[in-house]
Amino acid sequence: MQYLTMNDGNKIPQLGYGTFQMSSAEVEAHLPEAIAAGYTHIDTANAYYNEVAVGKAIKASGAKRGDLFVTSKLFPQDYPYKKCKAAIDATLGRLDLDYLDLLLFHQPYGEYVDGWRAMEEAVKEGKVRSIGLSNFNDRKVKEILLEATIKPVVIQVEINPRWNQHQLKSVFADEHFVWEGWYPLGHGDKKLLSLPVFEGVAEKYGKSVAQVILRWHMQEGNIVFPKTLNPQHMADNANIFDFELTDEEMAAINRIPQKPYYRVPDEAPAWVWGPNDYSQQA
Ligand SMILES: NC(=O)c1ccc[n+]([C@@H]2O[C@H](COP(=O)([O-])OP(=O)(O)OC[C@H]3O[C@@H](n4cnc5c(N)ncnc54)[C@H](OP(=O)(O)O)[C@@H]3O)[C@@H](O)[C@H]2O)c1
Repeated sequence: MQYLTMNDGNKIPQLGYGTFQMSSAEVEAHLPEAIAAGYTHIDTANAYYNEVAVGKAIKASGAKRGDLFVTSKLFPQDYPYKKCKAAIDATLGRLDLDYLDLLLFHQPYGEYVDGWRAMEEAVKEGKVRSIGLSNFNDRKVKEILLEATIKPVVIQVEINPRWNQHQLKSVFADEHFVWEGWYPLGHGDKKLLSLPVFEGVAEKYGKSVAQVILRWHMQEGNIVFPKTLNPQHMADNANIFDFELTDEEMAAINRIPQKPYYRVPDEAPAWVWGPNDYSQQA
């Protein structure tokens, strides 16, 4: 496994296992398989309604806590300072963990500047090792940076060959953020996986197109946690460290016309505000 070092000095595995749109039953069935297959980095969120199952799967896997890197995310209803403190404790309770490796604000709405103080306090109290942001644009990241005494270490946004985020990354080149990419495989988009630019490359290295895309992420310096329920894909996605794309191959992939799958709205869409009761998990 490759690790990146974040701007707070903590290390993060560059490849992980994502649990978006996984039911609790799916998490309990497949997360222990992923850990047995060598995945040590797990990405979940309050809003995935599967943290209880993630906690159970971690216990069932028999893995040592210190060998795992666990991320969760809070939703905007919980950003106001006092609510944020309670939400961090509730997240740890559902996961049945003493600490999180990484906690993110999931969506860029509401009282995120106020809540950031609670995130910083959670770091000082040892409840959370590192803190970051997801889906924040450059202006909103800068709002946090103006007030922060502990800077975000990670920015988790959509990243894939169709939306490589080179522009946003260049804005923050001096902050040494680690960039995490959601929809790393375009959410499994068959059109992305069948783009001609990948075909010859996959054949050359004896890899699948998905493996070539994940290798592109590694060389772009992105952190990714593709989601899969398929054991072959799970094994394939981790088998990307024995080949290297050439500069020309990287450049060809970076010439793919750019368009995101999902444009994050500036104002909060109604679904952001819930009602969201995370204690209700199967
Ligand atoms: N912060 C945010 O707002 C946000 C938003 C979205 C996602 N995320 C995080 O990012 C993670 C990944 O995103 P995602 O799950 O939406 O999309 P993704 O990982 O890009 O795509 C998942 C899809 O790709 C397929 N797939 C996986 N490996 C494959 C392979 N080797 N070959 C062919 N198909 C493959 C899977 O199907 P099979 O089951 O058939 O393999 C699944 O349908 C999430 O699980 C979550 O942790 C965060």
